[in-house]
Amino acid sequence: MRRPFIAGNWKMNKTVDEAVEMVTELKELVAGVEDVDIAICAPAVDLYAMNKVVADTNIALGAENMYWKESGAYTGELSPAMIKSVGCEYVIIGHSERREIFGEDDQLLNLKLKTAFAEDLNPILCIGEKLAERESGAHFDKVEFQLEAGLSGIEAADVKNMVLAYEPLWAIGTGETATPEQAEEIISFIREKVAKMYDQKTAEAVRIQYGGSVKPHNVTEIMAQPNIDGALVGGASLEAESFSQIVKFD
Ligand code: 13P
Repeated sequence: MRRPFIAGNWKMNKTVDEAVEMVTELKELVAGVEDVDIAICAPAVDLYAMNKVVADTNIALGAENMYWKESGAYTGELSPAMIKSVGCEYVIIGHSERREIFGEDDQLLNLKLKTAFAEDLNPILCIGEKLAERESGAHFDKVEFQLEAGLSGIEAADVKNMVLAYEPLWAIGTGETATPEQAEEIISFIREKVAKMYDQKTAEAVRIQYGGSVKPHNVTEIMAQPNIDGALVGGASLEAESFSQIVKFD
């Protein structure tokens, strides 16, 4: 059985003090949760202080991005070793905001994924279509392309341990969620695609999250879908109370 995985993505929100306050509250609220993996992916400057609060708790940390080189002249970038040194186990790769606003393409994301595996980080690879692609029925082709390009040259053993996050762009920050049936339809398609690219065992092991306006009131029906293993939560992960309600979804 795949373990449910609820992760927050804070995006460009929270100073160090605000971050520490939130996780201090959160760790009390989720202290008894044992059957769900929990992570917060936070701005890089917050992680060191957050790690002091959540080390040895059931809350893991993740970075929102990283570069694929070990070190060197890459002004403004973060290396895998740097994010690990502040307690990160996870790293989000290819969030749609990185793709759309910062021009990250599938080839670059593929390099980042390979580096994450080489450095023992668990990547969360985001894929998903734009509104126009959904409306024209191109959403299946879009995620298929993103999987093929993103996972090119990556071994089954690594894919088994990674996380995929299906996040349709039209549902991010809009309050408009994909219906649980829409999310299940495409997430089961993604799992079938992983089976074709690798094998059935790999497809059954990889965890696939849904992301896009997940809130306390809609998480239960999303998590009830057989192929949806978790959620990548933006806005509702900023408050300890709402995020803890999502973590305790059932
Ligand atoms: P919202 O939950 O705010 O829609 O954001 C989703 C997201 O982009 C998580 O990575």
